[in-house]
Amino acid sequence: MKGLILSGGKGTRLYPLTYTRAKQLIPVANKPILVRVIESIRDAGIHDIGVVIGETGPEVREALGDGKQWGVNIVYIPQDSPDGLAHAVKISRDFLGDDRFVMFLGDNVIEGGVDHLVDEFSRNNWNSQIVLKEVENASAYGVAKLRDDGSIEQLIEKPPHPPSNLALVGIYMFDHHIFEAVNAIQPSARGELEITDAIQWLIDQDYAVFPHVHQGWWIDTGKPTDMLEANSYVLDELLTDMPVEARVSPDATISSDSQIDSRVIVERGAQIVDSVIRGPAIIGEDTVVENSYIGPFSSLYHHVTIENCEIERCIILEHSTISDLGIRLADSLIGRHVTLKRGDKKPAALRMNLGDHSRVWVI
Ligand code: DAU
Repeated sequence: MKGLILSGGKGTRLYPLTYTRAKQLIPVANKPILVRVIESIRDAGIHDIGVVIGETGPEVREALGDGKQWGVNIVYIPQDSPDGLAHAVKISRDFLGDDRFVMFLGDNVIEGGVDHLVDEFSRNNWNSQIVLKEVENASAYGVAKLRDDGSIEQLIEKPPHPPSNLALVGIYMFDHHIFEAVNAIQPSARGELEITDAIQWLIDQDYAVFPHVHQGWWIDTGKPTDMLEANSYVLDELLTDMPVEARVSPDATISSDSQIDSRVIVERGAQIVDSVIRGPAIIGEDTVVENSYIGPFSSLYHHVTIENCEIERCIILEHSTISDLGIRLADSLIGRHVTLKRGDKKPAALRMNLGDHSRVWVI
């Protein structure tokens, strides 16, 4: 089998972070989502992976290279414009040939990986397998209506009045018949070739399409709140089975007056001075935390500086500095090279220099 990862698209719901960065490269528990996707495909025994790239292609290529670092071979498939998930499949025909493949949306994070799904698909003669998950807001996704016997009756993309609460997860398995489907369908009202329509076409032609209802957590990381939720889930999963001791790199420095919980990872070159770190949390390479409290579900990426602050349930990206805030920073997603500090210049006022689409809540 082969793997196909979709990493094109624009990521507008994550502005301003995604003005300058591919959303699939934003780290969750200090690892880019795309790398998590690659690792889960590799762990399912698949080593040939095509990555569909769009505008942010150069950055994705630079981050992933030829894939050897993760023990896979990566081929890049440029998509001129984000014309839909089925369009991405269409342009990947040369790479995929007649092989069966798993398609994984590069912004999806799922509990437990895909090895059991790939295994199930390999052991059966199905033409396609889709993954479904019960959700509260089904109209934000592709939605499946199942018959009483569990077979798929209908798939609809983002219906205003969903016929069920079963959303299509961004993980799909296909054989070569999907190319007949993507060539047969027409663009939807939003102008995209929808994979949902292509799978519906397979069903209508009596091809064998089987649903798997996923029981664990799943996050489609469209919005900042999704990123924070995914970060919390992954930190929890990552650190649940950790030994009683925190995992501190031998190159990190922890001052004797600091307290580090057991479910904490401190990476190479980090310095923790006179601070409290409550897990699950991860402190990245060469990050400095001084006279601060880092609360549960926080991920500080590399080269971050936190001084005289309290931080909880945040993702803070590289080279950002947060100091002397005087109020706890919580539930926040902070980009790269950001400075957030309490100044001492009079008159006392908020002084900001924010990019387009930034959002700040002041209490
Ligand atoms: O996450 C699950 C949902 O993903 C499904 O429930 C929907 O049925 C499916 O259409 C899709 O909906 P989204 O609105 O979330 O798709 P989005 O536009 O965010 O694209 C998903 C990924 O695919 C993202 O990493 C960008 C990439 N992509 C997207 C398009 C439209 C491409 O590489 N090329 C494209 O043309």
